[in-house]
Amino acid sequence: MLDIVTIGEDVLREKAEPITKFGSELKVLADAMFESMETDNGIGLACPQIAVSKRMFITHAQGDEPRVFINPEIIETSQELIDFEEGCLSVPGVFSEVRRPQSITVQAQDVTGKAFVLKAEGLLARVIQHENDHLNGVLFIDRISEERRERLMKTYHKKSKKKYKRV
Ligand code: NI
Repeated sequence: MLDIVTIGEDVLREKAEPITKFGSELKVLADAMFESMETDNGIGLACPQIAVSKRMFITHAQGDEPRVFINPEIIETSQELIDFEEGCLSVPGVFSEVRRPQSITVQAQDVTGKAFVLKAEGLLARVIQHENDHLNGVLFIDRISEERRERLMKTYHKKSKKKYKRV
């Protein structure tokens, strides 16, 4: 099982490196990520969250199939923006509404290196944008007001301290 790193780890703030080698190792890594994500009831997970600074993330949004995105680029975003509640396995236990485009078009490669283009809206578009941010060292808490972020981080630290005490 892979360890998911939490906020405070430098790797979450780095710009991840492009993937140039495709093959069975990458497939093994993606499979391990799906296992970890599902264990933690996540719907998306990016490589930096498992301390691997590479441009790859996976998604499995409700009502959608499991997907792998390698070297993704968001090439189009809708003008329409919507608020939607987000959380993150790297900032566990806290949630906030974040404003982002309602739909997007993403270009990426699959585990074999094959390029594809995907149009997504609603929840899938949301997860893709959140995970893509991880590849650039950006967390969802960076996309909310400073006031809200301070409140949220206070709650986060309170909760993680409690959790630590129980151990
Ligand atoms: Ni996240």
